[in-house]
Amino acid sequence: MEKFLIRGSSTKGVRGTLSCSGAKNAALPLMASSILFNSTVTLKNIPLGAKDIQTMIILLKSLGSQIKILKKKKILKITNNKKHKLLVKYKYISTMRAGVLVMGALLGKYNKCSTALSGGCSLGPRPIGYHLAGFKKLNCKYILKQGYINISANKGIKGNKYYFPKVSVTGTSNLILASIFARGATVLKNISIEPEVLDLIKFLKNGGAKIYFEGKRTIKIYGVKKLKGHSHEVIGDRIEAFSYLCAAAITRGKIKINKINPRYLRSEIKILKNIGCKIKINKTSIDLIRTNKLKPANIKTAPFPGFATDCMPMMMAVLARSNGKSKIEETIFSNRYMAAPELVRMGAKIYIKGSTATIIGENNFNGADCISSDLRSTFAIILGAIAAEGKSCISRVYHGLRGYSDLYKNLKKIGVNIKRIN
Ligand code: EPU
Repeated sequence: MEKFLIRGSSTKGVRGTLSCSGAKNAALPLMASSILFNSTVTLKNIPLGAKDIQTMIILLKSLGSQIKILKKKKILKITNNKKHKLLVKYKYISTMRAGVLVMGALLGKYNKCSTALSGGCSLGPRPIGYHLAGFKKLNCKYILKQGYINISANKGIKGNKYYFPKVSVTGTSNLILASIFARGATVLKNISIEPEVLDLIKFLKNGGAKIYFEGKRTIKIYGVKKLKGHSHEVIGDRIEAFSYLCAAAITRGKIKINKINPRYLRSEIKILKNIGCKIKINKTSIDLIRTNKLKPANIKTAPFPGFATDCMPMMMAVLARSNGKSKIEETIFSNRYMAAPELVRMGAKIYIKGSTATIIGENNFNGADCISSDLRSTFAIILGAIAAEGKSCISRVYHGLRGYSDLYKNLKKIGVNIKRIN
């Protein structure tokens, strides 16, 4: 199993320019939504290096989609000439939360499917109760049998109203997908307005879907007869962009990230500025320079446009090197501090109580052997290792490779002294 060996003391301050990949969490729902189209869908700027994308390709192929991969151009062409299989097997979905999205797409198109419950990062319980409650409102009945949800709308999907008790990203996308061809209108309230969800809405609308905002978090979807295949460019990955900004922030570095809309990171950029980073934004790029000592900060994660839970582990690593006491309150997942014990092994002072982390800034980190256990904590541990004196060996980096395209290559490019070992 691949490990990263990082010599922090030799990484003086990361420097360079990176081009942001397409967002994994936008590409995955777009790929799942291709099931709804009869003609070819072309998706550009796909982060083909991220393992989850490869898993979704295998999953869609297992259902009968034909997929052409133009690797150099980062393009996928997905064609659905024949009826899909309606069984989503556990082996294709066990490692990836976004696998659950094919449920909405298959329901939308065929009004039934049997789907294994999906896996993904262990961030605490990852229920799909809202998805199922929403499908039920749309005229579906379901039963859980041997780890599979058998779900169907025998009389067809019928528009209705559903209010999400809590904002859910994949829940929103799944219900949108199921409603596209529904009889009548569907109203979804308290939806996620994450940029990745808006990218899905844009893609579907350009294919002929009738989706209209009726308020900040309410949409109305009028069922249509079919969608027309077209071409779409996936938005830049805001979490990837933030991760590399943090690499410069933690090492007194200087970085430019291209191909990212800074509006996707408004809350996060505000915090980076508050702690003392100099940031310049352009329409599609972000520059960060850090020269001063870092100040502490208080952060509370929230659905977009709040501070993203996916950015929190990296922010925690940066704050662990600030001068003073910071507090983080994680409001989305119950188990999102998996990087903390690893950073503590390097010398960080992080104290977790329930959903709150108290961080006492500490400037002496020493390299250590660490284990990563979820996607974003992998990057947080890498940040600790870059900032530490000496050598760190990070195992189970496959968690990070699920979501970061070209992780090793990019870290090398900005000057991190890193080696891949087995
Ligand atoms: N929730 C429920 N019931 C549900 C659905 C969600 O209680 O039926 C709760 C969750 O337990 C959580 C909250 O609602 O407390 C929000 O969960 P959400 O459904 O929004 O999470 P998700 O859709 O499973 C996506 C991203 C995650 C990201 C979260 C939050 C994808 C594939 N995954 O997960 O991304 O952390 O939204 O923004 O889009 C990552 O990329 O590292 C990652 C974990």
